[in-house]
Amino acid sequence: MADLSKITNIEDLRVIAKRRVPKMFYDYADSGAWTEGTYRANESDFQKIKLRQRVAVNMEGRSTRTTMIGQDVAMPVAIAPTGLTGMQHADGEILGARAAKAFGIPFTLSTMSICSLEDIAENTDRHPFWFQLYVMKDRDFIERLIERAKAANVTALQLTLDLQILGQRHKDIKNGLTAPPKPTIKNLINLATKPRWCMGMLGTKRRTFGNIAGHAKGVKDLSSLSAWTSEQFDPALSWADVEWIKKLWGGKLILKGIMDVEDARLAANSGADALIVSNHGGRQLDGAPSSIAALPAIVEAVGSEIEVWMDGGVRSGQDVLKARALGARGTMIGRSFLYGLGAHGQEGVTRALQIIHKELDITMAFCGRTQIDTVDSSILLPGTF
Ligand code: GLV
Repeated sequence: MADLSKITNIEDLRVIAKRRVPKMFYDYADSGAWTEGTYRANESDFQKIKLRQRVAVNMEGRSTRTTMIGQDVAMPVAIAPTGLTGMQHADGEILGARAAKAFGIPFTLSTMSICSLEDIAENTDRHPFWFQLYVMKDRDFIERLIERAKAANVTALQLTLDLQILGQRHKDIKNGLTAPPKPTIKNLINLATKPRWCMGMLGTKRRTFGNIAGHAKGVKDLSSLSAWTSEQFDPALSWADVEWIKKLWGGKLILKGIMDVEDARLAANSGADALIVSNHGGRQLDGAPSSIAALPAIVEAVGSEIEVWMDGGVRSGQDVLKARALGARGTMIGRSFLYGLGAHGQEGVTRALQIIHKELDITMAFCGRTQIDTVDSSILLPGTF
């Protein structure tokens, strides 16, 4: 086992991941749409929120345990669904699911993952996990995907509502993003500098979209995410489809990608169990506000009817605490997870979770609280949120 004790924050993991992961996949994770203004605001808006330090409050017996949709979690954090995770590191989704299981938080598999639903079930002793779904034009395929999710022991479905068309990320176009990478001279030169990644990939068969390859009719070339999205994702997605999915699935449903109070009301009325305030990590509508800035109005409007979570910009336990103080019952981490994975595989993900947990626990104590469930906006400095 590698000694990761000198890795003390998520930024350390990002720097190592950048060195170890082929450029096109590192760039895919670490980019936002167009000017990347929303991507950056997700992080910088967290920094503007200031905490109230309290002293001489008994800090013993602290706990960050809570629930998300009734499920016990070691801290209010779940691993977000991220596309092409198995390209950041060989078998990346399996490693992420194992690390989440050991830590006691939920793992969410993306539709656009490299490892399949069945791979996760088989390699985690059928430990329950969550699955993220995109609505595609081929409704038979969706029906079969939902059946496969049930058979794989998926306990909550996350329906993503904000990616029926793909936001433009300049780097993906410039890099010619495909999975696996095409053997062009430029790619081969870059891969020659990533021996660990290459060894890992040589040791696995999982190198393309595992949930789709061999399962969707008439799909010849899956390698390009953008081509696949524009061909298969249904731009006509509506709230009637949400109802259809809800019936088909019949279990816990989470709606992801809500940024507007009116949409939040529709989400609450749909009978879903949770909604995620999310701008897709700044990867879709550049110019949208940060998720943390959008959160309070949505909590105010529907927080008593439906669990409200958030993602976007969560790079520390302090961010988790601030989101919780502003009414998010749970948070999701995408890039913080991917940086850990790209840096050191499963151990790197575990390190990322340890770092976030420690920051959350210590910050909560400095704010004079010992139980995460008692945290509210009174731990924040008025005028800073
Ligand atoms: C997919 O979810 C992406 O953001 O590329």
